[in-house]
Amino acid sequence: EEKTTNSSTAKNEQLDQHSENGEGQYLTTSTGVRINHTNDSLKAGSRGPTIMEDFHFREKMTHFDHERIPERVVHARGSAAHGYFQSYGPIPELTKAKLFNDPEKKTPVFVRISTVVGFRGSADTVRDVRGFATKFYTEEGNWDLVGNNMPVFFIQDGIKFPDLVHAIKPEPHNEMPQASAAHDNFWDFVSLMPESMHTIMWVMSDRAFPRSYAMMEGFGVHTFRFVNAEGKSKFVKFHWKPVAGIHSLVWDEAQKIAGKDPDFNRRDLWEAIEMGNYPEFELGVQVVDPEDEFAFDFDLLDPTKIIPEEVVPIKMIGKMTLNRNPDNFFAETEQVAFHPGHVVPGIDFTNDPLLQGRLFSYVDTQLIRLGGPNFNEIPINRPVVEVHNNQRDGFMRQTINKGKTNYFPNSRGGGCPMMAPETAGGYLHHMEKVEGHKIRERSDSFKDYFGQAKLFYNSQTEIEKKHIMEAFHFELGKVKDKEIRQRMVYMIANVDKDLAVKVANGIGINPPTDEAKIKEVAQDHIPREKVKSSVDTSP
Ligand code: HEM
Repeated sequence: EEKTTNSSTAKNEQLDQHSENGEGQYLTTSTGVRINHTNDSLKAGSRGPTIMEDFHFREKMTHFDHERIPERVVHARGSAAHGYFQSYGPIPELTKAKLFNDPEKKTPVFVRISTVVGFRGSADTVRDVRGFATKFYTEEGNWDLVGNNMPVFFIQDGIKFPDLVHAIKPEPHNEMPQASAAHDNFWDFVSLMPESMHTIMWVMSDRAFPRSYAMMEGFGVHTFRFVNAEGKSKFVKFHWKPVAGIHSLVWDEAQKIAGKDPDFNRRDLWEAIEMGNYPEFELGVQVVDPEDEFAFDFDLLDPTKIIPEEVVPIKMIGKMTLNRNPDNFFAETEQVAFHPGHVVPGIDFTNDPLLQGRLFSYVDTQLIRLGGPNFNEIPINRPVVEVHNNQRDGFMRQTINKGKTNYFPNSRGGGCPMMAPETAGGYLHHMEKVEGHKIRERSDSFKDYFGQAKLFYNSQTEIEKKHIMEAFHFELGKVKDKEIRQRMVYMIANVDKDLAVKVANGIGINPPTDEAKIKEVAQDHIPREKVKSSVDTSP
């Protein structure tokens, strides 16, 4: 048992049990009856109509008619690979998670890299964030690190996600533009959402065009927690660093490639693995002691902020190697279901309101995308450890659970009567103390929207700054509504005045001369006072 779950091939062996290869075999129906002829339907006379009893025709056609499932509501286009993760050495002081504490162990992983906005068949090299989702099949169950290639996000609270995505996806009346943020709805939203400006600066930068999926960083974005065996917790930010370094396409190249080879990044990943040129990523963490929770000029719970690496250096804790292409795109890349809520003992959440929103969303969407509550039985989603619980039934249930009961508590046998104490790997939620009034409000500590946007812009070289300006020229140049363009110029002035003037000049808009207007657009669209109701002062 230990041998199978404790090796990088455990997942491959499990997947093999579900594989089949029809090469050299007789064609059969899905119930195993051999077929002698598949090119002509069964007819009443050679020129007559097809007859109902042609079970082979009906089955073949019915399956075909049902072969599409909904694509992901975001991150629809993705490419994936198998591999393994290996820890650099035990870190028990930080986390009890076993995958980090045995450097001999190779934990199998499945990684899916995606664009966010485009549909499933859209081009790879468009200006967009890239998703970077990793499923670790650990001996304690699955851990999903569902990150992006940019360290920050557009919004501070999950409840805004439907608005963000409605704004960035093609417009609802005519479904244009495809896979591009260059439209009025998106920039209207941004121009009314000052907290998005840090991420916008990243998206306008060369980071939006990875040269290769092996040459981009990955980030957990939110602050998470590590928890050690003593129950002591530290805050962590996760980072993937590509061993091949960070390289981007330039925008003109990216546009041409999108036309000539829309599969450019997918093909590159596939071919690299076929040639044995395995993509590698080091996993690093920035660790913050709980005592330092308030030591920064931003809030650790704010996903629009990074912790600068000069302030908290990254400690490298392991490396991931991607060494095998999937056998079947649909079965693996399409049906894989990541979820930030899949954690193992030693890894826990924080109250980041964006992360909290995600914890609801992923399973909810997968219930419809993958057709019901049994999607964790799909081979790519199964853990390499055994699953025991009192769940039965539901569409497409695969497991034949034995025993005549499935409830707890239970004196009749069957079902799952045992709970695991922490010593047997039972998951314990970190006992953070939380209390407060119920209120739709953000902490004041979330209100600096431009400090880090400036930091990012100022960290760019001259040529990179020029690329950002050109990106704004193109993107905002496509916005038809002059008001939105003008508001965006004022918004950019909050990041860099000189940049805003250059952007204005390129898109036929007045430069941002009105200081009051610069301040005005930097404010939240909804005044804070309006969200407060009466406060219950009872203890
Ligand atoms: C995919 C929701 C923020 C990374 C998805 C999906 C949903 C979703 C519904 C489709 C999942 C599926 O069909 O299997 C949300 C919500 C967010 C949010 C509600 C904010 C509240 C983020 C952030 C990141 C992220 C901040 C990065 C840190 C990803 C990735 C995928 C994804 C990588 C694709 C997973 C895959 O390859 O299958 N998200 N998301 N999302 N999300 Fe988010």
